[in-house]
Amino acid sequence: MKIIIINGPNLNLLGIREKHIYGDKNFGAYMCELEELYPKLKLEYFQSNHEGALIDKIHEIGFSYDGIILNAGAYGHTSIALADAIAAINTPVIEIHISNVYNRDRFRHHSFISKHCKGIITGLGIKGYELAIQSFL
Ligand code: DQA
Repeated sequence: MKIIIINGPNLNLLGIREKHIYGDKNFGAYMCELEELYPKLKLEYFQSNHEGALIDKIHEIGFSYDGIILNAGAYGHTSIALADAIAAINTPVIEIHISNVYNRDRFRHHSFISKHCKGIITGLGIKGYELAIQSFL
């Protein structure tokens, strides 16, 4: 089974950025934990701060992978282009947010991408990525 985790803008700063919201774990270290937990899984990771690069990646793997776990960061709230990319592919997408976007600023309550996703995980911290993997399994 092939699953990819895609993180969008500013998520390269996990472990450094606003630790009271996003926690203190570095994503590279977390990926190592996930690889140990799921050795049989082909688990990939991609991060970009650029909307077009995220769309290109979704096009590239969206017809051959079994699942996409996508934290689009702020682009989830703003990007119709990203929503269209998800609508265009076959691979199911789980939208994830580390924080509970519903107890934060109002502009974080709306997501252009949710409609095209299989499910949504929000507010369960970095553990949400693992829960998304379990749901695909
Ligand atoms: C986030 C929530 C977004 O509102 C924010 O822009 C992010 C991170 C989260 O994981 O909680 O960058 O997607």
